[in-house]
Formats: sequence, C-alpha cells, structure tokens
Amino acid sequence: MKPYLLCATVLLSFLGQTLADLSSDKQALLDFISVVPHGRKVNWDPATPVCNSWVGINCTLDGTRVLAVRLPGVGMYGPIPSNTLSKLDALMILSLRSNRLTGNLPSDIFSLPSLRYIYLQSNNLTGNIPSSLPPNLTILDLSFNSLTGSIPTAIQNSTHLNGLNLQNNSLSGSVPDINIPRLKHLNLSYNHLNGSIPPPLERFPTSSFQGNLMLCGPPLKQCAWITPSPSPSPNHQPPSKPEKGSKRKLGIGAIIAIVCGGFAVLFLLVLVMVLCCLKRKNSKDGAVVKTKGGRSEQPKEDFGSGVQEAEKNKLVFFEGSSYNFDLEDLLRASAEVLGKGSYGTTYKAILEEGTTVVVKRMKEVVVGKREFEQLMENAGRISQHSNVVPLRAYYYSKDEKLLVYDYIAAGSFAALLHGNRESGHNGPDWETRLKIALGSARGLAHIHSSGGGKYIHGNIKSSNILITQDHNGCISDFGLTPLMNFATIPTRSVGYRAPEVIEARKSFQKSDVYSFGVLLLEMLTGKAPVQSPGRDDVVDLPRWVQSVVREEWTAEVFDVELMRFQNIEEELVQMLQIAMACVARVPDLRPTMEEVVRMIEDIRPSDSENRPSSEDNKSKSSNTQTP
Ligand SMILES: *[C@@H]1O[C@H](CO)[C@@H](O)[C@H](O)[C@H]1NC(C)=O
Ligand SMILES: *[C@@H]1O[C@H](CO)[C@@H](O)[C@H](O)[C@H]1NC(C)=O
Ligand SMILES: *[C@@H]1O[C@H](CO)[C@@H](O)[C@H](O)[C@H]1NC(C)=O
Ligand SMILES: *[C@@H]1O[C@H](CO)[C@@H](O)[C@H](O)[C@H]1NC(C)=O
Ligand SMILES: *[C@@H]1O[C@H](CO)[C@@H](O)[C@H](O)[C@H]1NC(C)=O
Ligand SMILES: *[C@@H]1O[C@H](CO)[C@@H](O)[C@H](O)[C@H]1NC(C)=O
Ligand SMILES: *[C@@H]1O[C@H](CO)[C@@H](O)[C@H](O)[C@H]1NC(C)=O
Repeated sequence: MKPYLLCATVLLSFLGQTLADLSSDKQALLDFISVVPHGRKVNWDPATPVCNSWVGINCTLDGTRVLAVRLPGVGMYGPIPSNTLSKLDALMILSLRSNRLTGNLPSDIFSLPSLRYIYLQSNNLTGNIPSSLPPNLTILDLSFNSLTGSIPTAIQNSTHLNGLNLQNNSLSGSVPDINIPRLKHLNLSYNHLNGSIPPPLERFPTSSFQGNLMLCGPPLKQCAWITPSPSPSPNHQPPSKPEKGSKRKLGIGAIIAIVCGGFAVLFLLVLVMVLCCLKRKNSKDGAVVKTKGGRSEQPKEDFGSGVQEAEKNKLVFFEGSSYNFDLEDLLRASAEVLGKGSYGTTYKAILEEGTTVVVKRMKEVVVGKREFEQLMENAGRISQHSNVVPLRAYYYSKDEKLLVYDYIAAGSFAALLHGNRESGHNGPDWETRLKIALGSARGLAHIHSSGGGKYIHGNIKSSNILITQDHNGCISDFGLTPLMNFATIPTRSVGYRAPEVIEARKSFQKSDVYSFGVLLLEMLTGKAPVQSPGRDDVVDLPRWVQSVVREEWTAEVFDVELMRFQNIEEELVQMLQIAMACVARVPDLRPTMEEVVRMIEDIRPSDSENRPSSEDNKSKSSNTQTP
C-alpha cells in the first residue's frame, strides 16, 4: 500500500503546486501548432473551446485539463518544438504518428510524469531515446524512425510498460535486461542491436528481434560464445557488459575464458535449480499435500502464496466479464483485508491499472477440482443478475482457491443498519430499507428460480447483502455453501438459521426464505440476530418479535429510528406481516421468494406515486406541529 499512497501524495502535491489550467493548456497547444508546419489544416481556433471542438484533443471528464493530443497523419514536418507540449502536465496520451517529423525526441515531453501512451512511429525522428521516461509509461511506439544510440536502461524501471515498439530504427548496443511481467508486445526488429537477448525477453517470438544481425540467443540462434567448448577464438566478441573500460587491460582471450567459465557455472546453477523445482513439484502433485509444513511464512498480506509458478495463467473468467487482467496482475495488486469469515479471507484488490475487485481466498474447500469447477460455472452463470453480486473469475489449485467478484463500494446492509450508532449514525431511512429489501428479495428469487429450482443460497444474512451506490440490494456469496463442510458454518449465522437447518441439518429453498424473514425483522427492529461479533449470544429475533406482538405492543418492535418518520406505520406493519410469514416454523407454511417479492412490491404499488422523501415529511409535519 505504502508506495501507492506515496505516489498519490506526490501526484497531488504536484498538481496542487502547478495549478495549471485549461487556458495554459490551450496556450501550449497554440504555441505548438504555430511552430510546426503542417500540410492539413488543424482547426485549433483560439476563439473556440479546446475540449469540444478542437480536432484531436480530449480532455478530462470535468473538462479542466487536456488529456490526449492525437494528430496522426496531418502532414506535420520539422522538429517537435520543446517547451510547448511539455507544458501539458496532465497529458496522458500523445500521438503524432505518421507525420514527417524530424529532429530529436524532445526530452522535456519524455519527462512529463502524467504521460502514459506515446505514439511517434512512422516519422523521421533522429537522435537518442531520452534516458528519463515517464514513471507510468504504458505504451512506447517509436518504430519506423531513424533513431540511433542504445535503448536506455531506464526502461527497466517502467514497470507499467505494456508495449514497446522500436522496430525499423538504427538503434545499437545491447538489449537492456527488461524484466517487466506486464510487457505484452515487444518489437526490436530491424535495428543494429548486438549481444545476447536477456532471459526475461526470451518469451517473445523471433519476429520481435529479427533483422538485428549481431543479436543472438533464444529465440534467435545460439550465441557463439555460449557454446560449451571454450575455444578462445579471437573472432568472437564478448557481450557488451557494463565494465567497458577494463577491456584493454585484460586481453580478449582472458575475458573470453572468464566469461565462458562464468556462463558454465551459471548454466550448472540454473540446471540444478530447475531440477530441484521439478522434483519439488512432482512430490507435491503426487502425495497428499501437507499444507502447513511446506509453505514458507508470508508476513505480508498476500492471497497468492499458494499459487504455483507454472499455473499463473489459469484464472478462469466467465463470459460477460469485461475485466482484462491475468492472475499475475491479480497477485501483484495491492490488497487490503475486507474481512475474515468462515469461508476464508476477503480482500479488496486494486490492480495496477486502477481496477478494483474483491478476491475471496477460500479455505477448507471440501470438493475436488472437477466439482469445484462445475459449481463455480453455475455460480458464475446464475450471478449475472442485477441483484446478485457477480462472480467474475476463479482460480483452483491444490493449495489455493480464489474467487474474483465485482467490488461494491457502499458496503453491506449489516454495516448500514448497525454501523456506528453511538457516533450519531441513525441507520438508513425507510425508503432505503424498503428498496434494499425489495432488491435482495428479487436477487434471492432469481437464484431460486434458476436451474429448474434446484439452487439454494444457504447463508442469507445482512452482512451478505451488499449495497450499491444507488441503494440497491445485492446478494453476495452465492454458491459457496456447497464448497464447505457443514460443520464450518459459523456461529455468526446461527440467528438466521431455520429450525430444520439447526435440528435436522437439512436446507431447502424455504430455509433461505426463513433467513430472509429474519433479515426483514432485523431491518424493521434495528436489532441484530447476534449481539456483537465478539460474543455469541444469539437473539432469536422471530421469537422476540412474536412475544412482543402477541402482547399487542406492535409499535414497540420497530426501530426507534423508523419511528421518527410519519405516515409509514401501515407500511411497517405490512412488512412485519411478510417477515412473520417467512419465519413460520413449518417450511411449507412459508411463502416462496417469488411471493415475497410480489408482497413487498404491493407495499408500494407504484413508484410513479413519487411521494416526497420521508425526511421531508418529517420536517413538514414538525413544522405544522409548531404553533
Ligand atoms: C476524443 O474526442 C473525440 C472528439 O474530439 C471523440 O470523438 C472521442 O470519442 C474522444 N475519445 C475519448 C477516448 O474520449
Ligand atoms: C502511476 O500509477 C499509479 C497507480 O497505478 C498512480 O498511483 C500514480 O499516481 C501514477 N503516477 C503518475 C505520475 O501518474
Ligand atoms: C530522414 O532524414 C534523413 C536525414 O535526416 C534523410 O536522409 C532521409 O531520407 C529521411 N527519410 C525519410 C523517409 O524521409
Ligand atoms: C530505477 O529507479 C531507481 C529508483 O528510483 C533508481 O535508483 C535507478 O537509478 C533507476 N534505474 C535506472 C536504470 O534508471
Ligand atoms: C523495416 O525494415 C525492414 C528491413 O530493412 C524492411 O524490409 C521493411 O520494409 C521495413 N519496413 C518499413 C515499413 O519500412
Ligand atoms: C555492440 O555495439 C556497441 C555499439 O555499437 C559496441 O560498442 C559493442 O562493442 C558491440 N558489442 C558486441 C559484442 O558486438
Ligand atoms: C516486428 O516488426 C517487423 C517489421 O515491421 C515485423 O515484420 C514483425 O512481424 C514484427 N513483430 C512483432 C512481434 O510484432
């Protein structure tokens, strides 16, 4: 987490200091276009707004800064002037490709911290690639120019780099040891690069390196000097390594001997390591896994410690997911523990490109791989409903089971209902509660009607109802109960359990209906079925409500917070009746979820009625009460 925070504060203070705005961006663009001759007309008229009318310009959402400059193929020629575009300090995307630009790459643009995408290919730019690069550089395309010099080693620090295209230039020297896992596209073809291809880049195809006559090593042909027989032939040059100056003093033969010796030792070491790894993997795959013992301690919060190196691609996504990351990205994400439950630990993971997802790391899964996959496929399909939290992907291995969900920022119904009341928090108003109840009823009804009616949720409780920004209720954790041993079901859920579940350990859809009834009672009374997370004293809400109602103190059962609102008593009583029907002792007497949905909808027959919000009602009525 820390580096992220640091980055963010640096960025914030940076923005705060410069306080540049759209008008300075505009001036910078005008300076640029007035200096660079261009064949086609560019409609950058000082009198018109930059963000909406200038061709090739995109701004931030709030329209305060220029985010992108795209002028491909407008016949610009001559050098890129310095001190113009470099003033766009919110610029993220720069594309001036397919022009006839010449001269050096302006180093001031390359040190713009905000810049991420640089497309300058197909020009006739010359000189070196600047050695300082933007920190979050994602795409760098300088192909089809006339660049010379070497590839700057600073590129090794561009950990966000996804694409690097430098083909068809005249770059020379060795290829830096670019070890960037997210690098997906690399093209260094048709340059004058020499030496060996560093191991982290061996995963790219031949066509990423072709046309460099002096470049060698996989995926190209073997380097001559790496062959096992150390024949000190003076024809073979050693690879260019950092200590260039010492060449003369030692003599070529000695260097070759040392280098070959070094490589032989390295080769042996690597061989031994590979063999060791293979052996360990085999023994792990074979016998029953002895989990606890073999795993090394991981002090850091990390949900990936059980992921095997070789399996890093096996994150299974469901159709309809628009996510674009792989397991490696996920494992590199910054993770924050959201909660530790009976199923395992839940993390909020922020991927490097800013996507936030929820990862559940399951423990004590009792089903095998085949069954797990089948269950997850079903859960993934059924959770595609606006009132169910969608399961997006899963990962299964012997040591690690991960589930990936959308991140729902507003939190759980439990937190909303019982969150810090001491500190003056009143809980949601009746409108909100009603909406959440209806949404989650629809979600559960959807689950019950899927697959010919064979699915149950098995763990309905207020902490499993998540709230979206617009106060819609979403059912979470669907599909997890079949993965677990019944005995591991937590005490925190006991207050929601139907009698038949507790007594006979049998679950039906009607058992979910009971739990949902308890949830409604919780919502109406403001009381939790479990007093506090630390203690296990269960409040039998149905029994408590029944006892109060029987003695005709109906109003007393409701949350005092709800009593602040006027004109809702009737709706409260209707909801109470639905809840009581759901918590009938005999399963057959409980309504189905579909009936529950219909009954809740009937409380407010049409939304078009559009009553003023309860808060308004309240203030109005208190106004009328004052003389
Ligand atoms: C950029 O602006 C153009 C209009 O100038 C618009 O058509 C395009 O969709 C915008 N692109 C993005 C990514 O906002
Ligand atoms: C770089 O990216 C990280 C997160 O991906 C972000 O926190 C940081 O602010 C970015 N830095 C700049 C200069 O944009
Ligand atoms: C690029 O510029 C060089 C001189 O700077 C020139 O010799 C060469 O013809 C130019 N190439 C193209 C494609 O314009
Ligand atoms: C990479 O970044 C580190 C830390 O900022 C710096 O010390 C190092 O010199 C950089 N490496 C290169 C090759 O620029
Ligand atoms: C790139 O360079 C290769 C080798 O010189 C050449 O065959 C190819 O046509 C070049 N591509 C372009 C688009 O110039
Ligand atoms: C690679 O090229 C650089 C620069 O052109 C040169 O100094 C170096 O000696 C070359 N190395 C090899 C092994 O050819
Ligand atoms: C790299 O560029 C060359 C020349 O344009 C092309 O032939 C080759 O297919 C490219 N390779 C990759 C991996 O994109």
